[in-house]
Amino acid sequence: MTIGILTGGGDCPGLNAVIRAVVKKARISYDWDVIGIRNGWKGLIEGEVEPLTLYRVSGLLSLGGTILGTSRKNPFKTEEDKERVRDSLRRFGIEALIAVGGDDTLSAALKFHKQGFPIVGIPKTIDNDIVGTDFTFGFNTAVSIVTEAIDRLQTTAKSHHRIMVVEVMGRHSGWIAVIAGLAGGADLILIPEVPYDISKVCEMLQKRHEVKQFSIVVVAEGVTQIENKNAVTQSSAVDEFGNVRLGGVGQMIGTEIEKRTGIETRVTVLGHIQRGGSPTAYDRVLATRFGVAAVEALKNKEYGKMVALRSEQIITIPLEEAILKNKKVDMEFYQMAEIFFG
Ligand code: F6P
Repeated sequence: MTIGILTGGGDCPGLNAVIRAVVKKARISYDWDVIGIRNGWKGLIEGEVEPLTLYRVSGLLSLGGTILGTSRKNPFKTEEDKERVRDSLRRFGIEALIAVGGDDTLSAALKFHKQGFPIVGIPKTIDNDIVGTDFTFGFNTAVSIVTEAIDRLQTTAKSHHRIMVVEVMGRHSGWIAVIAGLAGGADLILIPEVPYDISKVCEMLQKRHEVKQFSIVVVAEGVTQIENKNAVTQSSAVDEFGNVRLGGVGQMIGTEIEKRTGIETRVTVLGHIQRGGSPTAYDRVLATRFGVAAVEALKNKEYGKMVALRSEQIITIPLEEAILKNKKVDMEFYQMAEIFFG
């Protein structure tokens, strides 16, 4: 049998560990051939693929990014693209597919499955916002990077008696902000699930500065204000799945805090640093377990399923379940983090 693998959407530490695990499991356990599809769905539209041998995937475990490349191409954008995908699958003899991605890539995978193509999904995003899995790989690495950044900002904030605003990724969910904020001892964490009131934010910081004279405010890029439900964007452009490019909310909040409180405020945007570089040991292992489980799922003909982590066990769930909505930060957890605000 010949299977294909593609990585779509934003890259994420652990993608190469998944590719390595899929190839090793498929070759060693079942003697299947594996074809790597370049740049997500785009590779099937443009017919760009490469054979993945055991030799090709050797040494990948610690490497960030994805050797296959990725894109935010939507294969259902036009009838022509859809036809080209089908044509490539036929031409390269790909009999089943493993799609590694977030909600956009997985929703396209579900559509192909519904058209009768054997497909299994692997959840991937540093945002950890996919329903049905306790964690996605890449999240742990992003949290470590953000926590280290907060630790570093603490010492400079203290020395200068400043407020430091740190903008982190998190389009629909504030998982990175709340977990890294908690780990780094942030004094306020703003997440998309809880719209903020700038007057209350400033009041709290002003009060804190009477005693502590420095503060760390972690802001997820997707946060909105109570009175304006639109997230701050870098431009009006959208990608093929309709996602806007977020960014700039940290600066907006920082400027407003300084204006209202008179306390010197600086802003750090961590951006793609959170997604780059080598995965943590946790993410390498989770990615490896997902890769192995996805091959097993294909072997068992569990098409239209996604592998997931549930209470330390790897299970499979219907793709439909995973893409219905985004996984939000648990409010009880956020309320626990609030104990440390101020
Ligand atoms: O993959 C999700 C994410 O990390 C979001 O938090 C962020 O908005 C987005 O990727 C940015 O990705 P890019 O700049 O690659 O489009």
